[in-house]
Amino acid sequence: MDVHQSLLDAVGATPLLRLRRVTAGPGPAVYVKLEFLNPGGSVKDRAALSMVRAAEACGDLPAGGGGVIVEGSSGNTGVGLAMVAAQHGHRAVVVVPDSIAAEKIALLKAYGAQVVPTEPKVPLEHPEHVNNLARRIAAETPGGWHANQYDNPANPRVHELTTGPEIWEQTGGRVTHLVAGVGTGGTISGTGRYLKSRGPVTVVAADPESSRYGGGDGSPYYVESVGHYLHPGTVDDLWPQSYDRGVVDRFERIPDRESLEVARRLAREEGLLVGGSAGTAVAAALRVAAGLGPDDVVVVIAPDSGRNYLSKYFDDGWMTRLGFLDSPTGPRVRDRVPARGVAVAPAGTTVAEALAVHGAGPVAVVTPRQSDRPTRSAPEVLGVVALDAALPPGDDVSAHVGGPPPAVGDGEEAAAAHARVPDGPVLVLVDGRVVALADRTDLEHDPAAGG
Ligand SMILES: Cc1ncc(COP(=O)(O)O)c(C=O)c1O
Repeated sequence: MDVHQSLLDAVGATPLLRLRRVTAGPGPAVYVKLEFLNPGGSVKDRAALSMVRAAEACGDLPAGGGGVIVEGSSGNTGVGLAMVAAQHGHRAVVVVPDSIAAEKIALLKAYGAQVVPTEPKVPLEHPEHVNNLARRIAAETPGGWHANQYDNPANPRVHELTTGPEIWEQTGGRVTHLVAGVGTGGTISGTGRYLKSRGPVTVVAADPESSRYGGGDGSPYYVESVGHYLHPGTVDDLWPQSYDRGVVDRFERIPDRESLEVARRLAREEGLLVGGSAGTAVAAALRVAAGLGPDDVVVVIAPDSGRNYLSKYFDDGWMTRLGFLDSPTGPRVRDRVPARGVAVAPAGTTVAEALAVHGAGPVAVVTPRQSDRPTRSAPEVLGVVALDAALPPGDDVSAHVGGPPPAVGDGEEAAAAHARVPDGPVLVLVDGRVVALADRTDLEHDPAAGG
């Protein structure tokens, strides 16, 4: 058994676990690299330690402690930095989008980090964007240093120096496929680069379906910490320098439902409680494995534990309200609102244009996106307008919406949904996307019974 003099000596050297139950048939071995076994609970401990050591080596942080580490993070890098800060005598300030799981914010505070919540969905150029705010706080704080995992070469480098060599050694050089998500890109770029330097390894990026990295429209998705969301107001969509696109051979674009189902199956069938991005990665690995033979060896990175997401992906209520899961009892929302299809108009459309396309009736007004199909992602619904010829034809439809309506899940029990929402329009969701518009009163009535 190892005996460590510092907690930081326990970062890395994580085990591989062979999946036995969620894998089908005589295909390849699929191994999961259990990064949640790092002492701070995620793959990000590696990057945090690497970035702090590099900053201390070049004098950006005082080597003897007393500096202030500032980072924009959806949680795990913040935890890693707070852990390293405690060990090295620095202070940590973490700027987080306030949409992240509550457990992650509580964790940061438990490590003594100062947490600065900010707007989750703002353009990259916006001063309140997590990275811009972190940069500003670092500049204005005496002894402040912005870790900047997105562009810090010490992030991918640590994976080239540790994660990659570990996988090569653990598989005895037999690894043929690496599957990982892309957040900053540090993990996949560094690990992939090392493995490719050793042998013919195919690197597969597991990406949320609407993420920009894999070619989606950049609209919101529900798996945290991976993929690239594009705010419609972003002018220059800069990608992280930690991400080396040349390392990735192909993408598997995974819908949220598939990611979350796989994460939940891993807990129930393998006893492996991992986060949503691990669900995305294992879902991609299962797709990859389906096309391979018994001599192939697939290694997939599980970045963190499901304990970070007990109030989201492992909460049946959360899953049901967003339309990812059916409630056990009915009648359900879809029994009461059977019609599917929703008229959607991007903000900026005039009343006359919307009437010409949709006719009179309710229309969901959504954030405009560069895409041939308007988004149906629930967070991008600005409101509902009841279109009719009495509205001024030249008005922007968005001038007539009263704010985003509440949403219910398609498989939610209708009575529970009815009890939860106020009078007025209601969005009906499947997989976090709008499939129908209803009125609260619709949830009370059985359409087959008439009235
Ligand atoms: C849960 C989780 N999954 C995946 C990633 C992506 O890793 P990387 O930033 O190395 O691409 C992160 C990064 O923060 C993460 O926290």
